[in-house]
Amino acid sequence: MDWGMKNRLAQLIQRDGRCFFLPIDHGYFQGPTYKLEEPGKTIKPLLPYADAIMLTRGVLRSCIDPENTKPVILRVSGGTSIVGEDLSHEGVTTSVREAIRLNASAVSTSIYVGSKHEHETLMNLARLVNECEEYGIPVMAVTAVGKEVEKREARYLALACRIAAELGARVVKTYYCKEGFEKVVRGCPVPVVMAGGPKTESELEVFEFVYDGIQKGSIGVNLGRNIWQHDYPVAMIRAIRSIIHENATPQEAQELFNEVKSGKKKVVCGR
Ligand code: R5P
Repeated sequence: MDWGMKNRLAQLIQRDGRCFFLPIDHGYFQGPTYKLEEPGKTIKPLLPYADAIMLTRGVLRSCIDPENTKPVILRVSGGTSIVGEDLSHEGVTTSVREAIRLNASAVSTSIYVGSKHEHETLMNLARLVNECEEYGIPVMAVTAVGKEVEKREARYLALACRIAAELGARVVKTYYCKEGFEKVVRGCPVPVVMAGGPKTESELEVFEFVYDGIQKGSIGVNLGRNIWQHDYPVAMIRAIRSIIHENATPQEAQELFNEVKSGKKKVVCGR
């Protein structure tokens, strides 16, 4: 592996082999998502606890301070909207040149396996990998499920993750599933990170699935809404980070969450 590729991956995946990516790219098809109306304000207090942020070039340029940020995973696919006909109809929106100009540590694109536009999105990934490998930029594939909740099961996720890895993704982002998640990870020869999905009823649910996913081989998360849509986002990110980088159990994470929420524990970067 070239030095540049190794170095970029090391910016994202920490020395303990784990990672905590904070995504704020939701507006690229959802518009001003709840609590992400002003992305810069939303993530300011969260930034110290993330290993990297995932976002589009527009939000990066307009909302993120270039002198005080974290490694960037640039979302380079899009061209659809929540009110449009088909979320799977994505193209590559941002050139690799632009990714280099923006000093991205990685780029990401969605693949929609089993959808009407499966082929195009897989070819988007393949083309992006061809180009990015030339410059030592890792590609993170996002195994998107669109509105179809039933696709969040092991057989489907394993299929999508494996295809993404076969096409050359260096990291694959997928959803956690309760049954058979270890098979999803085992069948994917590159690191797997978990998305959070829509906000859950309780924080413990999140701590439990993150913990379980890590035990089953995932290296970390790319988790947004369950942090920044929570009433106590700093307590959430601090607690989830403790599971990823400090091997905390869900119960320990809950205790930490309660302490940060109540102000008993001061908020300082966990590193
Ligand atoms: C979707 O808009 C993006 O790919 C998100 O980055 C991904 O779904 C993770 O965010 P969340 O934890 O909110 O699902």
